[in-house]
Amino acid sequence: MIKTKEKIFSADDNRIIELNLFLDKTLKKEDKFYLRQGDKKQKNIFTKGGLIENGITCLHDHDTSSGKLLRSICTDSKIEKHLSKNYKFKKWKLVQTMLFDANPSTSLHTDNIFLDSNPAGNLIGVLIAFKDMGSENGGISLYDYNKEDIYKLYKPLYEGLPNEFESMEQIYHIRGKFLEVLKNNTKKPKLKTFLETGEIVSWASHIPHESLGGLKEKYISRFSVAAHYIPSHMEFGTSLGVNSTRFAERFTSREFHFIDV
Ligand SMILES: [Fe+2]
Repeated sequence: MIKTKEKIFSADDNRIIELNLFLDKTLKKEDKFYLRQGDKKQKNIFTKGGLIENGITCLHDHDTSSGKLLRSICTDSKIEKHLSKNYKFKKWKLVQTMLFDANPSTSLHTDNIFLDSNPAGNLIGVLIAFKDMGSENGGISLYDYNKEDIYKLYKPLYEGLPNEFESMEQIYHIRGKFLEVLKNNTKKPKLKTFLETGEIVSWASHIPHESLGGLKEKYISRFSVAAHYIPSHMEFGTSLGVNSTRFAERFTSREFHFIDV
């Protein structure tokens, strides 16, 4: 059982209801380009069951009604309370989100090679459920490792990093090596996690995690957002060093502090 799972929002929170309406009435019917996983600008790609396959990056940064709605949820002070209770800093800010309809089929990774604070090691990922998750639509699996174990594993790769990255391809290649080391060395049991609507689960940037498949995940929505936060006095980046951010648009979204709702 994961310790950082908490019921934060009521299932009948108006913002969650409105976001669900937005998903069905607008988002699925739109023919618009959004930033997606892998820093691609794409239109919706659908699963066999009509769910949006390619999650949307940083919708919370859009000044549209749905963007503001998502922002309001992700910057609700109840989440900051959860963060300050479970992690060592009091004040936090939102730096990135990824909105999912279909289960994203994300393979095993730690966030720190894609997203982290600078200094590294303090970014927290939070999955917020907008629909119930269960064996049919899937959830998330986390692995209980401490920071030292993961940094020891990654140490030879960190020591071999270039001083300056020259292209996106070079970063992808190096990330691949981190992912391979992680895959070959993650032996602890999975902590399989499902959420009810309005529940959240959080994890630190060194925690290995992956999506947990569902039996009908191509047909039943796992509508949720993965929101990423860093301590309010830190910079956004990755654990690969300060110049690892210049090739990716995901680092260009505005930062948002928490508000009392
Ligand atoms: Fe992640």
